[in-house]
Amino acid sequence: MIAQQTPTQATAPGPRGLPIIGNVLEMGGNNTLERYMLMRQKYGDLVGVKLGPMHGFIVFNPEDVYYVLVKNQKNYIKGIGYDSFRLLVGNGLVTSDGALWRQQRRLMQPPFTPASIGQYADMMVDVTKTLLDGWQALADRGGTFEMDAAMRQLTMSIIGRAMFSIDLSAEMTEVGDALEEAFGFIPTRTNSVVPLALPLPAHRRFKDNLRIINAFVDERIAEGRHNPDQNNLLGLLLRARDEETGAMMDAQQLRDEVITLFFAGFETTARSLTWGWYMLTRHLDAQQKIQAEVDAVLGARLPAIDDLFALNYTRQVVDETLRLYPPTALLARQNSEADTIGGYTIPAGSLIILVPYFVHRHPSVWEDAERFDPDRFAAGANEARARSAYIPFAAGPRVCLGNNFALLEMVYAMAMTAQRYTITAATGEEIAHEFAGTIRPVKPLIVKIENRRKAETA
Ligand code: HEM
Repeated sequence: MIAQQTPTQATAPGPRGLPIIGNVLEMGGNNTLERYMLMRQKYGDLVGVKLGPMHGFIVFNPEDVYYVLVKNQKNYIKGIGYDSFRLLVGNGLVTSDGALWRQQRRLMQPPFTPASIGQYADMMVDVTKTLLDGWQALADRGGTFEMDAAMRQLTMSIIGRAMFSIDLSAEMTEVGDALEEAFGFIPTRTNSVVPLALPLPAHRRFKDNLRIINAFVDERIAEGRHNPDQNNLLGLLLRARDEETGAMMDAQQLRDEVITLFFAGFETTARSLTWGWYMLTRHLDAQQKIQAEVDAVLGARLPAIDDLFALNYTRQVVDETLRLYPPTALLARQNSEADTIGGYTIPAGSLIILVPYFVHRHPSVWEDAERFDPDRFAAGANEARARSAYIPFAAGPRVCLGNNFALLEMVYAMAMTAQRYTITAATGEEIAHEFAGTIRPVKPLIVKIENRRKAETA
């Protein structure tokens, strides 16, 4: 429950804004991150904005982020900042709060703990190998392809197998496109005063996409109900019972959780891998180091779960990619009670915007922050870092449920690709990013693929 707002005592500096609507017009859109960076340069680590009658605060400092996500997390719910995302995923685990969230997290945690994650390893290797085999003919002639599309295909296939035990390659294009487009629409709804009921083309398109996603998910759930003992995430959700009441999830909650996992498991990981390959095509020395590591650890064999801990440099590249391109570049919270952050009073019910994208570049922590340098994550290098200075998966109780799953998937994808192929940029042009729910490249990443041995002797 959000308490009544109290007046601000020490007002955080920020842009003046317009009468009544305040800074609403400055807050959304595809170049949000750049605008936030400029605000930080001008006003400092805590920027105050007005969103109509509501106070908003953009938090850039790692220690303040730690305070919100971990230290005083009880006061910070997801709240209003996730209203537009709820249009897509309902009240699933990412967007729910309070008792519902606690119950659902308890139910959904077991298959994602570090100890359980090994059960997905063989499946991930299998799916990745199928993709890599499919690239063979292309590599033989040094062809080119769109890495973004390939990484979407990979992560969609992996989450499809983990959730439903099916190969989604056929459905992938339609549901994948619908999910991405619907998600891209979400930021345009944030602070929008235009009712979604208005039959504008963008609104109609969003609803069409929702219909495609819901129909797909309902079909999977109907199939799952015929075989509820199946050993996959859907089976787990279908069988889950509340510890105290013994109640099962109702149909709406089940649908929300399935869409949440399906979406969360696909989009973020696909983006991260694409950015990872973008970095590796621009830093061929890092790609060569991965190749050397893979040769030493795996030779020509496929990876097993224990190899994860030996593929250290590959993991460092993943970590550094997530630093520069944290897919969830913005997080939002709402404080139940008035609080103080960075010396400023935060009235109850304010919208708190945390900016992992900037936290990962904060000058108090990261030297030469724009430089891609996987050695920042070498063993021992992390210890002195401020708390919450690195938060691609957030932190505290609402930390990403699928972080271990995603890391395994990404390390395997990079290592297994590097084992067989060398990937270089087809054009060498820089690719800018935009914020559309996640950090997306503004154009496709087209890469050239060659067989390792051929590329090495060329
Ligand atoms: C590189 C890949 C991924 C990144 C960067 C990422 C990032 C995040 C972040 C930052 C949050 C917190 C959001 C917030 O506080 O508002 C989150 C939550 C969540 N993520 Fe991920 N995620 C990734 C992959 C996955 C995967 C593979 C799954 C599932 C298979 C997943 C499932 C979830 C769920 C269910 C939550 C909500 C957890 C809760 O609130 O209890 N994520 N993720």
